[in-house]
Amino acid sequence: MGLKIYQPSNIHPSAKIGDGTKIGAFVDIGRDVILGKNCNIQAHVTISNECKLGDNVFIGPNTSLLNDKYPVSNVCSPVIVEDNAVIGGGCIILPNVRIGESANIGAGSVVVHDVSSNCLVYGNPAAWRGESITIYKPQTFMYCSNCDYIKVPKGTLNCPICERKLTKTVEKDEGVLPK
Ligand SMILES: CC(C)(COP(=O)(O)OP(=O)(O)OC[C@H]1O[C@@H](n2cnc3c(N)ncnc32)[C@H](O)[C@@H]1OP(=O)(O)O)[C@@H](O)C(=O)NCCC(=O)NCCS
Ligand SMILES: [Zn+2]
Repeated sequence: MGLKIYQPSNIHPSAKIGDGTKIGAFVDIGRDVILGKNCNIQAHVTISNECKLGDNVFIGPNTSLLNDKYPVSNVCSPVIVEDNAVIGGGCIILPNVRIGESANIGAGSVVVHDVSSNCLVYGNPAAWRGESITIYKPQTFMYCSNCDYIKVPKGTLNCPICERKLTKTVEKDEGVLPK
């Protein structure tokens, strides 16, 4: 499935990135970071040294995962994000925080404590608001190159707009789905 990295991005050579993961432009990925498979890291995200993400993790634009609670102590306390977590745009995740499996973080949150699996949190400081609403699950779509690359479900035979047979299509994995 491969790896897609939009430029310019700054990926430390020691970072390990799983198959199918997409990284938007202006992303900064630090030393010894591990990203799992099929993650979607949107533009302007910072993932500090030694942070670890599981599979199918979504991170919205402008979010930062930090690792040094008292800069410039040089004590590295990385953030851990478990599988299928969905983190909104513009969030700050403080050092040493663990975000549980399938947790949801609302946009603009400042996350200071661990987040349990399947929980929705948001706000500053982020607080528990209920159960998770979405789970990141990549889906495959096809595109009609004749119609400005409109997305159609995989397996569609004819474009719903121009009705041309979909022979020249591009497949792409993406999607945040309701649970
Ligand atoms: C957290 C979220 C999923 C909640 O959605 P929801 O359950 O439909 O929530 P609602 O819109 O019904 O809002 C419920 C209340 O929470 C507040 N709220 C919702 N999201 C909030 C957030 N991120 N931060 C602070 N308050 C928030 C609303 O203002 C509302 O408060 P009110 O009842 O006093 O008016 C959604 O608001 C969110 O932040 N999604 C992430 C979007 C994102 O970052 N996408 C990235 C890719 S583009
Ligand atoms: Zn078409």
